[in-house]
Amino acid sequence: MAAAYQLVCARCAARYAPDALRWRCDCGGPLDLAFQPRFDRRRIAGRGPTLWRYREALPLPAEATPIHLGEGYTPLLQGRVGGIPVWLKQDHLFPTGSYKDRGAALLISQAVAMGIDRVVEDSSGNAGAAIAAYCARAGLACDIYVPEATSPAKLLQIQGYGATLRRVPGDRQAAAAAAQQAAATTFYASHVWNPFFMHGCKTFAFEVWEQLGQRAPDTLVLPVGNGTLLLGAALGFDELLAARQVDRVPRLIGVQAASCAPLALASASGASAPQPVEAHASLAEGIAIAAPARGEQVLAAVQRTGGAFIAVSEEEIAAATRLWWRHGFALEPTAGATLAGLGRYLSAGDHAREVIVSAITGHGLKAGQALAGLL
Ligand SMILES: Cc1ncc(COP(=O)(O)O)c(C=O)c1O
Ligand SMILES: [Zn+2]
Repeated sequence: MAAAYQLVCARCAARYAPDALRWRCDCGGPLDLAFQPRFDRRRIAGRGPTLWRYREALPLPAEATPIHLGEGYTPLLQGRVGGIPVWLKQDHLFPTGSYKDRGAALLISQAVAMGIDRVVEDSSGNAGAAIAAYCARAGLACDIYVPEATSPAKLLQIQGYGATLRRVPGDRQAAAAAAQQAAATTFYASHVWNPFFMHGCKTFAFEVWEQLGQRAPDTLVLPVGNGTLLLGAALGFDELLAARQVDRVPRLIGVQAASCAPLALASASGASAPQPVEAHASLAEGIAIAAPARGEQVLAAVQRTGGAFIAVSEEEIAAATRLWWRHGFALEPTAGATLAGLGRYLSAGDHAREVIVSAITGHGLKAGQALAGLL
């Protein structure tokens, strides 16, 4: 099958041909794709409401068959926070209950196109569940490495899809190290390292662009652990800008949990790389990432859009999660962190005429135990 792309190091620009076992550059840097997307508004509008409506803007060989579960084109609802209108993308309504299906659908479709039959992945839970679901759909074997403290419902979900669950003693970094050892001989379906995942996540931008009437919002307020959604959204708007479909890239506001905020701290001190922090547990388990592998890229993206980081406390996360449940939204605490950040963003300055988009990234039913104490 003809390769539609090349791998390019985000740090040193070295290039590599597609290779099933290469997941980072020889310099240690993360890999991006050299790929030319195409947008044909008429074709897009003529297709069904899934993320595959942007088929020619996704780096899957034209002859490959997407592995799909009906994912994407999630509702964009308008709400009000403190009287200010904001748009909320309902990404907890994906097939596995989190936005991670955006990336998993494309990554596993690409793995199948490459003839892969087994993958490994490490995750705080949601990305593992998404990879496990698409592997189940495609008939691939997969091993998912998770930290031992992962929410029970996410563990059940991973096992329910038939994946082999590997619980690793220690934190999120320990789970990543164990998966990377296995990745020496097995395809690494990493939502952080594999650039196809980010290209799946860029459909967040494409959907927002269409749902707002083919324009870019002024501001995106998004959660950041490893930053796959934020980087995907930035990539999507960069591509739309290059294709002259929008006139700017939105300002990016990244929300972190204060108990684990290497990027917010780096940004505050003007550093271009994540600040070393101790890995503390957080209600927002999905974004408690002490050493984000693409941290330099996230910091650069936020800075070049004139954005900022907001670090929210455990109390703010709990309060926002409770508040939004009371307004009818079933969200997990990680998603509550984003909305706590949104509230903080709106509380300073004048945002009355700003078009602001945020997201609910994970479903509440995934975190029953944590929520039992909160709600
Ligand atoms: C519900 C939810 N929201 C947001 C994120 C953050 O994604 P990232 O770590 O790629 O920034 C995660 C990651 O696991 C998540 O599970
Ligand atoms: Zn490199």
